[in-house]
Amino acid sequence: MVTKKLEWEEKYSVGIEEIDNQHKHMFATINKLLDIISTGSTKENLGDIIEALVKYKIFHFATEEKYFKEFNYEETEDHIKKHKEFNDNLTILKEKYPEYTIEFAFELINFLEDWLINHLMVVDQRYVKCFHEHGLK
Ligand SMILES: [Fe+2]
Ligand SMILES: [Fe+2]
Repeated sequence: MVTKKLEWEEKYSVGIEEIDNQHKHMFATINKLLDIISTGSTKENLGDIIEALVKYKIFHFATEEKYFKEFNYEETEDHIKKHKEFNDNLTILKEKYPEYTIEFAFELINFLEDWLINHLMVVDQRYVKCFHEHGLK
């Protein structure tokens, strides 16, 4: 079970400020969830954070996908598929826990950490060359 806070490291960077900032924002959200779990805060807080996260994720995926289109990125289809998988898995998880319980928060954190780290280190790294070539930094 995860209890340690996530720390941003250079290895997670895609070398593009706008996107790194969005990824950092997601790290911060996971850490906020960890705080709530350790302090046993109220259900409302948990719900607010989860809803903000869902909104932010839509915004972040849209940012990446906007550039895929603009730059005619060759792995667009595969990458969008990964984003969709994430959305589907999150929906399944939310359906499993109709209430914003601590158990839900634990499972959500595990899911997010696994996904985020893997996605950042593998899938998002793949567009770095293309984005840089198109002048993003
Ligand atoms: Fe992505
Ligand atoms: Fe991303």
